[in-house]
Amino acid sequence: MSARARLGILLSGRGSNFEAIADAVAAGSVPAEIALVVSNRTQAAGLEKARQRQLPVLALPPLGRDRESYDAALAQALRDARIDWICLAGYMRLLTPAFVNAFPGRILNIHPSLLPAFPGLDAQRQALEHGVKVSGCTVHFVDATLDGGPILAQTAVPVEPADTEATLAARILAAEHRLYPEALRLVLTGRWRIEGRRVIVA
Ligand code: GRF
Repeated sequence: MSARARLGILLSGRGSNFEAIADAVAAGSVPAEIALVVSNRTQAAGLEKARQRQLPVLALPPLGRDRESYDAALAQALRDARIDWICLAGYMRLLTPAFVNAFPGRILNIHPSLLPAFPGLDAQRQALEHGVKVSGCTVHFVDATLDGGPILAQTAVPVEPADTEATLAARILAAEHRLYPEALRLVLTGRWRIEGRRVIVA
């Protein structure tokens, strides 16, 4: 692998995890360059933050395309940018199997729970409603299942008695901003392999 991996970031909203990754890249702790930031939402705040950092951005609204043709266009844009790794950072579309297969083992996601608990939307609300005392965040490889790929790294975060969805989400988000760059650094510099569901770090 080249010394500086080319990252493609996919986001749909605020983009705070993108910023955490971009800060780590700028600080030199993640040996990569952000080669493209893509959003399905033209107005995504994260896209504007990427523009302000003078990173290459692409707004790719669905425009009525079906999932297959949308993901084909997305994959082509990422290939054109010679992307090595894809980081989902609050990307709110399900990826088609064809897209996942186009970048095998090269897509990471961050999810605001300790997977396999509470996959899908509103993970923090699910955690509160379930009454767990500990939740957290997970960085995992993306496969064709929803939030189901091999787990690379996790951080546990306490659930406090007075928590609302907003206070719990904020506590988890702070942990996400540390975990995603660390996990990225691990995959880019560490020795690891995937055996079945397990990511073995040497
Ligand atoms: C984060 O909580 C992330 O775990 C989830 O979506 C949220 C994105 O936040 N997948 P941001 O856009 O990175 O600020």
